[in-house]
Amino acid sequence: MHSLKRSVLKLLKSSTKPNHNFSRPRVFVWKICNRSQTNKSCSDDPYVIDLRSDTLTKPTDAMRMAMAKATVGDDVFNEDPTVHELQNMMAQMLDMEAALYVPSGTMGNLISVLCHCNRRGMEVVAGHKGHLVMYEQGGVAQLGGVMPMTIPNKDDGTFDLNQLAEYIRPTDDPHQPHTGLITVENTHCNCGGKVLPLKYLAELREKANSWRVPIHMDGARLLNAAVALDVEPKKIVSYVDSVSVCLSKGVGAPIGSVIVGSKQFIAQALRLRKVLGGGWRQAGHLAAAAIVALSSYKQHLAQDHKHAKMFVRGVMENHNNIIDIDITGVHTNIVMIDILKPGLTAEQFCQRLKTVTEQEFTDIKDKVVVLSMPLTKFKLRIVMCSNHNTEDVRLAIKKVQYVLHELVKK
Ligand SMILES: Cc1ncc(COP(=O)(O)O)c(C=O)c1O
Repeated sequence: MHSLKRSVLKLLKSSTKPNHNFSRPRVFVWKICNRSQTNKSCSDDPYVIDLRSDTLTKPTDAMRMAMAKATVGDDVFNEDPTVHELQNMMAQMLDMEAALYVPSGTMGNLISVLCHCNRRGMEVVAGHKGHLVMYEQGGVAQLGGVMPMTIPNKDDGTFDLNQLAEYIRPTDDPHQPHTGLITVENTHCNCGGKVLPLKYLAELREKANSWRVPIHMDGARLLNAAVALDVEPKKIVSYVDSVSVCLSKGVGAPIGSVIVGSKQFIAQALRLRKVLGGGWRQAGHLAAAAIVALSSYKQHLAQDHKHAKMFVRGVMENHNNIIDIDITGVHTNIVMIDILKPGLTAEQFCQRLKTVTEQEFTDIKDKVVVLSMPLTKFKLRIVMCSNHNTEDVRLAIKKVQYVLHELVKK
């Protein structure tokens, strides 16, 4: 048997919970199709629309071509012209002095925090729902001896700036650590892809100046924020000292992030990248794909945002008491779905979306699987990216509507 089929069967088997509320559906074996494949070319297998994350984007033909043809050198010797081109492009785009290509957003954040908090025992103030706090293994503490001081995030991804004042340490008390940095995340992933308002960032800048504390932005999805606000990304980062931008999310490059800031900051970042093992040799092959991806990000991110809104409107068209989505909270490509139905968990809902029952096929003549991601017991997310076209979104809506209808009847 094909190994993909074997692992999919294993996945389906392992994720069928014994305490499932629904009678166990008879499922079809499915395989993942690319956008370029139609349902037909997948023959009888269900068509999979994978909405778990925007990290799932695959390089386009143009990116693959650019990767193959890239002029490269040893980037650890600082001799890769394509990496230089990408770094210059990003520094120019963000109107900052310098940029550094790094393997991941996690490394970009870690390096940035360690550059700003350059003595062990310093403190970084960060929102409690941020990626840096939730999903980076506390790397800043684990590897850098920096203490995260978490401040409550509001639902819109911001934190209270009056409250922030209480988190900034005095510099003359030998008992207390020093505050080395404030971080913000934009868009805020865990808060549903929310865009931080420019007015908020301006106010934060003013306060941070008065405390003489720098600001780092986890801008994994900075370009989504810029597209949503219809401003140039440099406007957003004009309020911060450094930013880490992921190119491997909605932008669509296969690998890598870029950190951007002052020349002095980037010189220090280069040293830290080396000690973390993030120095790549012929990295230009990957930078080449990122350069292609950046050439068209505005159009396809705008399309992803449109698809997210279209999905929510379609799914919430008919009133249901199974799930709730706050459409006004959908700023970009991420949609948070709250489970309302008592006894139903996010895990179970996701599981149902990734199966196709025989009854379903009889009723709607479609075999569509939607993959989504449970975040908490009663919350899941879907994320739009350039893997999906408008027809995929229509099919996903139809699938979710069918499942909602089925659940209403139970
Ligand atoms: C907001 C945010 N920051 C940082 C990262 C880390 O990026 P990477 O997966 O490239 O390490 C992610 C990844 O999903 C993210 O969503």
